Amino acid sequence: MTQHLTIVNHPLVQHKLTLMREKDTSTAVFRQLLREISQLLAYEITRELPMTTQEIETPLEKMDAPVLAGRKLALISILRAGNGLLDGMLELIPSARVGFVGLYRDEKTLQPVKYYFKVPDNLAERLVIVVDPMLATGNSSAAAVQMLKDAGATNIRFLCLLAAPEGVARMKEAHPDVPIVTASVDTRLNEKGYILPGLGDAGDRMFGTR
Ligand code: URA
Repeated sequence: MTQHLTIVNHPLVQHKLTLMREKDTSTAVFRQLLREISQLLAYEITRELPMTTQEIETPLEKMDAPVLAGRKLALISILRAGNGLLDGMLELIPSARVGFVGLYRDEKTLQPVKYYFKVPDNLAERLVIVVDPMLATGNSSAAAVQMLKDAGATNIRFLCLLAAPEGVARMKEAHPDVPIVTASVDTRLNEKGYILPGLGDAGDRMFGTR
């Protein structure tokens, strides 16, 4: 991917996103929509994966058929909301390796604090896709990406559902080499670090907490 920011304007993505933003959308529907959108976003972010060929035999004859090249890719979920994107992506890419980065946001400073880090081996040889639905201040995302770089990752992409301009700018400044794929860049952040108009707290909405 050469572009730093890709906004997926596909009508299905935009329609589903609107339903997710709606405050009266139930937890069950929100979760299902997130699963569906994650697959459409995954389709976009994996568009240029390297390919090779493999000889196979159809019922009629042999052929050199296209298959993905290289090591299995790594999906890294930023807990806990990242898991909502992860589930759908794993249905599409079932052999992907999976890692988790646990960060919580200090409510006062808005800075990320690490509490969990477990990632696949050989990160340097894998495409690493970091998933988190909301790119808000960008502080946790930038910190998570830095941890993955420290663990050896060199080819990283970031997938989110919604981004704030502040988060996109923060990521571009900290990690200009990491392309971002999102369904929307919204207007701004509020004083609590929530994206406006946004959809509220993605974790609460997908897990039914508050
Ligand atoms: N995290 C969320 O879940 N929602 C926001 O608007 C910002 C961060």
